[in-house]
Amino acid sequence: MSDTRKLFIKTYGCQMNVYDSERMAEALGAQGYVLTEVAEDADMVLLNTCHIREKAAEKVYSDLGRLKPLKAAKPDLKIGVAGCVAQAEGDEILRRMPLVDLVVGPQSYHRLPEMLARTEGGARVVDTEFPPEDKFDHLPERKAMRGPSAFLTVQEGCDKFCAFCVVPYTRGAEVSRPFARLTAEARGLVDRGVREITLLGQNVNAWRNDGKGLGDLIRELARIEGLARIRYTTSHPNDMAEDLIEAHGTEPKLMPYLHLPVQSGSDRILKAMNRKHSARDYLRLVDRIRAARPDILLTSDFIVGFPGETEADFQATLDLIRAVGFGAAFSFKYSARPGTPAAEKPELPAEVSDARLQTLQALIATQQRAAQEAMIGREVGVLYEKPGRLPGQMVGKSDHLHAVHVADPTAKVGDLVRVRITASAPNSLAGERLAD
Ligand code: SAH
Ligand code: SF4
Ligand code: F3S
Repeated sequence: MSDTRKLFIKTYGCQMNVYDSERMAEALGAQGYVLTEVAEDADMVLLNTCHIREKAAEKVYSDLGRLKPLKAAKPDLKIGVAGCVAQAEGDEILRRMPLVDLVVGPQSYHRLPEMLARTEGGARVVDTEFPPEDKFDHLPERKAMRGPSAFLTVQEGCDKFCAFCVVPYTRGAEVSRPFARLTAEARGLVDRGVREITLLGQNVNAWRNDGKGLGDLIRELARIEGLARIRYTTSHPNDMAEDLIEAHGTEPKLMPYLHLPVQSGSDRILKAMNRKHSARDYLRLVDRIRAARPDILLTSDFIVGFPGETEADFQATLDLIRAVGFGAAFSFKYSARPGTPAAEKPELPAEVSDARLQTLQALIATQQRAAQEAMIGREVGVLYEKPGRLPGQMVGKSDHLHAVHVADPTAKVGDLVRVRITASAPNSLAGERLAD
């Protein structure tokens, strides 16, 4: 076997998985693995999976099925399943899929090299423990970053137990990474050219360490010279502390964008979902956030067709959407998940949920268009992430996280420039570069 082996990683699900995939690639990099974009070239294929909805979880099995010919042609090929399906299903995956060599849950990634070594001897291994040590402390240092924007996981797990959700089971209890480690990792990222950091957590605004909350962490990170932008996701409405809201008004590096899932606008359904906030609580919170930062762009998540959702409940959700005015939203048809309390309840007919989802998505699309059109004529910052399709064109993200195309032939990836928005397309904006 040659010294460099090739690793193919496919990432499903949320941004926390994206971050974890980078860290696993680094851990295996230390074992001589280099990343490849082509599964057929790989010596190891790692699927970093998501269990949030049935479709996401089942996709993993169909993707594994598709790897069969590859494994048959290349018996030394190692196939690993990581992420939330690995955590939820453990050795069931080995039973269902004989081609899988290893199954590793999200809290055990630092053990990956050692697990892989065991598979060399022909063993099939599973690790879905929640070990006491922090995996991130046992993973190698961050390497050269690929772009100007990076993720930094600050918190993992969830103690909220929304009635529909698998995350508290797949990721475990809320754990916050220590303040000093995070500031050190952030400085390391900035030294490697990163200009924007998005703090991640399943409940990122529940981050707490040493008497400090997320607002304190953001203010500390904002002092890092060279770091231009800070974002965080995903937040729970009940964890929006006053000083975090205040930071949106006082900290210029904190971007005017907030993803704040509400799930439903019906108090009856919110209660059944165990969300522990009412529609009115949410609307009041939105008012407070907008008082701190009037131009903030809000996005959200919605579930339609939760067990027991009536037409009136659904209308209450539409009312809430109309009352807030979102910049965008993710919306999902309820999917019953094994082991969650909601899965015990009878489901709505699929046609009802499908129709509601369409109605909700049409309303969100209107709001998204309106929010984009409201940007026309405004001056925003844009951080260039890559060259555009046209010659001399750059594409980047605005302060409000809109994708923006700009004709700017002398610019480089990583430049943060002032742009006047001139037009709105279905999923992006166009703008012209202003003098610095
Ligand atoms: N921690 C975040 C997001 C968790 S998962 C939060 O609390 O908001 C991302 C989104 O997936 C959720 O916001 C929810 O809208 C959706 N989701 C979670 N479980 C689901 C299920 N069983 N069926 C459909 N959508 C679900
Ligand atoms: Fe899931 Fe609710 Fe926790 Fe979000 S807050 S991860 S939806 S249990
Ligand atoms: Fe999916 Fe796990 Fe993220 S279930 S959404 S990958 S936390």
